[in-house]
Amino acid sequence: MKLFLDTGNIKDIETYCAIGIIDGVTTNPSLMAKEAGDPREITKRICQIVKGPVSAEVLATDVEGMIREGRDLATIDPHVVIKVPFGKAGVQACKALRAEGIRVNVTLVFSAAQALLAAKAGATFVSPFVGRLDDVATDGMELIQQIVEIYRNYGFETEVLVASVRHPMHVVAAARMGADICTCPAPVIESLFKHPLTDIGIDRFLKDWDAAKGAQQ
Ligand code: E4P
Repeated sequence: MKLFLDTGNIKDIETYCAIGIIDGVTTNPSLMAKEAGDPREITKRICQIVKGPVSAEVLATDVEGMIREGRDLATIDPHVVIKVPFGKAGVQACKALRAEGIRVNVTLVFSAAQALLAAKAGATFVSPFVGRLDDVATDGMELIQQIVEIYRNYGFETEVLVASVRHPMHVVAAARMGADICTCPAPVIESLFKHPLTDIGIDRFLKDWDAAKGAQQ
C-alpha cells in the first residue's frame, strides 16, 4: 500500500520524504490556507520533493471552471493530480480532464455509489473520507471495504485513496482491506513508527552492552 502525506507543509514533507516511505502528497484548500506563501509555488516545491503524485484541489464549483482551473494547475508540474469535489460537476469535469490525459482525484466521497460513479468517469484516484464518516457515527472503514470489493468486481483501475485518516488503526485496516493508498497527516505517520516495546528494547540493549563492557574494563 502506498503512503501519501496529507499536508501542504514543506518541512513535514521534507522530513518524511527523507526517510523514504512517502509515495505522494494530498492537499486541499483548508490545508493550503494554513501555509504562508503562493500556493502555486508551494505545490511546485512539494512536487520537487516527493517526485510522486501531488493532489491540488480546484476551488471552482461549476464544470467549466473546474476544467479551466484543472488545466491550469496541471501546468505547474507533471506530478500534479487535479482534485475535484464529488458531484455532477465534479464527475463531468473528471471525465473531461481524463480525456485530455490529466490525472484526477475525486474527493469528498462518502458512499460506495459515489465511488462507483467516480470510477465510471475514469478517476485516477477516489478519496473516501473515513474520519469524517466516523465523526457522524458511520463506519468509515466499512465504506473502504465496499469500494475495494466493487472495483475488484469490475476491474476498475481507479485507485482507492483512503482520506481523512485520524489514527494508525485506519492505516492498518486500509492495508488489510487492500486499499491502494492511505493519505495521512504527519502525526499519524509519526504514530506508525511508535511502539513502547521497541523503545524499551533499544534502551535495554544499550544498557546491557554498557554494563558488560564497563565490567570488562
Ligand atoms: C485528503 O485528501 C483530504 O482532503 C483530507 O484527508 C481530509 O481530512 P480531514 O477530514 O481530516 O479534514
